[in-house]
Amino acid sequence: MNRAHNFSAGPATLPTEVLVKAQAELLDYKGAGASIMEVSHRGKEFDPVFDSAKARMKRLLGLSEKHHVMFLQGGATHQFFMIPMNFLNKGDSADYLNTGVWSQKAIKEARIYGDIKIPYSSEQSGFNRVPSANEVRFNPSAKFVHYTSNNTIYGTQFSTEPNTNGIPLVCDASSDFLSRPIDIDKYGLIYAGAQKNLGPSGAAVVILDDEFLKKAHTDNIPTYLQYGSHTGELYHTPPTFTIYLIDLVLEWLENLGGVAAMEIINKQKAKMLYCAIDDDDFYENQVETDSRSKMNVLFRIKNRDLESVFLKEAEAHNLIGLKAHRSTGGIRASLYNAVSLQSVEILVDFMSDFRRRFG
Ligand SMILES: Cc1ncc(COP(=O)(O)O)c(C=O)c1O
Repeated sequence: MNRAHNFSAGPATLPTEVLVKAQAELLDYKGAGASIMEVSHRGKEFDPVFDSAKARMKRLLGLSEKHHVMFLQGGATHQFFMIPMNFLNKGDSADYLNTGVWSQKAIKEARIYGDIKIPYSSEQSGFNRVPSANEVRFNPSAKFVHYTSNNTIYGTQFSTEPNTNGIPLVCDASSDFLSRPIDIDKYGLIYAGAQKNLGPSGAAVVILDDEFLKKAHTDNIPTYLQYGSHTGELYHTPPTFTIYLIDLVLEWLENLGGVAAMEIINKQKAKMLYCAIDDDDFYENQVETDSRSKMNVLFRIKNRDLESVFLKEAEAHNLIGLKAHRSTGGIRASLYNAVSLQSVEILVDFMSDFRRRFG
């Protein structure tokens, strides 16, 4: 078996233990004589999987009775329009922080539904930073504040939630969900595309506070697209195999000690890699230090011509997924939960050997 050291930004590596378990259960799920994806979504096999995934999520994030956990199709992009569709009436306004392409995509969809204000943008400086907690003044009449906690493409991350003085926070946490503890009481809604820290692509996890849900409207919203349709009994056939895999990933995370334990490992991985980049001036990282992401670490080689050589050699060394997004260029190592400390050590060793040979 060849499992590469996979630094892909998403879809991303999943814990090998999870894939091995899914493989073992694929043909005959716990004696059912069928795979979990071949049985009823309302039957005795899938019911406990669904309940377990929600219960694990609640334990991992310290959610209370007032929180709904949903697994919805369409990934994070689907949430870009579903949120303003449910929470903005004509004439309502919301504040969106613009910290990169994903924020901009969310803004574009929100503008279909309401008056969207941008109290902060880091576009001028090439999205190389995010604001500190008290840096932004929010519009007091905003129905919610939307932000992207980790900017996958630029390698920036909020170290703490923006201080909104009580305006509900809505967060696209696609690329740092469950990578560290969060203060859940600050959020009206958190969503994350599954394909980084959770499971396969094409679905999003949504955590919704019931108090915030009460502010949603349903006028002219198709039933499936109303959040309220997903808080009780199953409204439709959900992505059962995806939910099963998410449950296995959450089990893996619980066995590891939960998000606080995960954060310690994630900090170690990021520290090791940033130290290797900062070591001398062969590599460089252009993000402001306080805004550096622990999930997506971007770096360039000062001599840009060497970057394609680096990527090619890295692949030959079983280090894959390191090419950065086409809009930034350069190299990006995504250090999601399932990327092991050992994989990062091997990357750092490769980087120092490369520097020795080409520096
Ligand atoms: C921060 C962030 N938001 C949203 C998305 C879009 O997610 P999806 O492709 O699941 O719609 C991505 C994808 O990489 C992302 O990184």
